[in-house]
Amino acid sequence: MDYVRHFETLVKEQLARVERMKAASDPVSYAELSPIVIGVLGGDGIGPVITEVACRIMEYSLKDELASGKVEIRKIDGLTIENRAKAGAAIPEEVLTEIRQCHVLLKGPTTTPRAGDEYPNIESANVAMRKELDLFANVRPVQVPDEGIDWTFFRENTEGAYVLGSKGIEVTADLAFDFKVITSQGAERIARAAFEFARKNGKTRVTAVTKANVIKTTDGKFLVICKEVAKEYPEITFDDWYIDIMTAKLIDKKRRTDFQVFILPNLYGDILTDEAAEFQGGVGTAGSANIGSRYAMFEAIHGSAPRMVAEGREIYADPSSMIRAAAMLLAHIGYPQKAAAIYQALEKVANHPDYRLTGRADGVTNQAYGEYIMRELEK
Ligand code: IPM
Ligand code: MG
Repeated sequence: MDYVRHFETLVKEQLARVERMKAASDPVSYAELSPIVIGVLGGDGIGPVITEVACRIMEYSLKDELASGKVEIRKIDGLTIENRAKAGAAIPEEVLTEIRQCHVLLKGPTTTPRAGDEYPNIESANVAMRKELDLFANVRPVQVPDEGIDWTFFRENTEGAYVLGSKGIEVTADLAFDFKVITSQGAERIARAAFEFARKNGKTRVTAVTKANVIKTTDGKFLVICKEVAKEYPEITFDDWYIDIMTAKLIDKKRRTDFQVFILPNLYGDILTDEAAEFQGGVGTAGSANIGSRYAMFEAIHGSAPRMVAEGREIYADPSSMIRAAAMLLAHIGYPQKAAAIYQALEKVANHPDYRLTGRADGVTNQAYGEYIMRELEK
């Protein structure tokens, strides 16, 4: 490989992305859209089953809006690992065309091939969708009311260690490079999203997490931009931590409740949000919003759990991550009360002794879990 040329191409692509970010349009106003089109993609593994449960709850909450035509739900097939492997693409072209005709998406987990497994080593569908639709803000709330935990993570979603994750260079058999990219525009928009959220929701503290002492150029830039944006929000306390000590602080019961809103580059956000979700009951309970100015996509934070499917246990998979994702979608398109009702029902079912999800036949099925929630919403 001509690696100098390869690097030159990467630089040009990234410079072009900077120009596109500079020209970005204002965010969509859902109140002005009719209908608001919600695309639903089941994904792989446990994805179709848990997405179906979440989708039925969403349909139930939106029954008036669906009847009046204010909202439309479209099921989109084809985002499966088999189809993606066949097309040799992270997202097959015809699926992408359908996705682009929607405004928001509810997406089940998709299998990401790894080197050495039965599928071609194509890019993750999540990562491709985030880049393709420019979903720059990955917003991941984690709440454990009994322990005073109320965190919202703003993970940068379109650059960092991920953007060129499939475009590293193997210079010789002994020398491999990957790249990490931070742009001023990319850092500024995620920082601004975090501070705007803090301001609108009465949060008093925003914390940036980097490794700027070592990864000086990219994390360094990320941190400088966060500090600049912070100046525009004088009512909010801003501080910054390194990722290593932050992973430790999250398990420090005395200190962790002080944190409220986090801003992180992509990879640190990936890691820290799995850790954080564990306090809430595991990744199976956590929803995730991927927000851009034109599109938004809502998903679980976990993978497709092929092992559960291989063992025939998908009907017992925890659907609460996807139900939370659906609630986040509803809040995003202008129905915060409907979202709040779903969160309340989730809280109730999680504490109900007869509705324990164990992932196995000694627990409840995800369908029964969903039906309980719908009965709660009816009340
Ligand atoms: C997540 C997931 C993805 C990521 C994987 C499936 C590519 O772990 O959404 O956090 O790394 O972003
Ligand atoms: Mg992750």
